[in-house]
Amino acid sequence: MRLFIAIELPDHYKKALGELRTAIPGARWVAAEQIHLTLAFLGEVDEDTAGRLIAGLARIQTNAFELGLTGTGCFPNRQRPRVVWVGVKAETRLLELAAAVHDTVLACGIAQEERPFSPHLTLARLKFPASRELGAFLDQQQELNFKPFSVKEFTLFQSRLTQQGALHIPLKNFPLTKA
Ligand code: 2AM
Repeated sequence: MRLFIAIELPDHYKKALGELRTAIPGARWVAAEQIHLTLAFLGEVDEDTAGRLIAGLARIQTNAFELGLTGTGCFPNRQRPRVVWVGVKAETRLLELAAAVHDTVLACGIAQEERPFSPHLTLARLKFPASRELGAFLDQQQELNFKPFSVKEFTLFQSRLTQQGALHIPLKNFPLTKA
């Protein structure tokens, strides 16, 4: 199974983020209902490891927290843009959750990228750098007026690759309730 771990967004958030979509040549926009905050990408995982992973994730102890968005940006940079995103405020509780998820994944023997966690919501992936249109979009959307929302759980997803693109199937939710 191809797995990843993410925070689901409220429906009204996904809808509003989907409405940011604009004409950028070569952009493949993420369907609004699939926009999410990735905490960890695992890739192919066997059933036995997935079982241990679920047990490990269920042991994570974190309180619910508020998540706020910042403006838009792109990876790796404006000169060579590949991914267009909305930034997420790197609040302590979010960073703690991401670190706990990262450690749990590593403890299950699943390799993780060395790059530091950079919280974002991918809006689009670019086949080639349409710098002018992208620049206009980023400048327009520097300030996003989204109210913070309450994160009460995180989710283990399966990503099934189909001819229509990746299907994201929630497998299990993990509530954020510290005992
Ligand atoms: P991102 O869009 O938040 O950057 C599910 O596939 C998610 O896992 C993607 O939305 C992507 O997060 C993240 N991911 C990270 N590395 C990946 C990879 N090598 N292949 C596919 N997805 C990856």
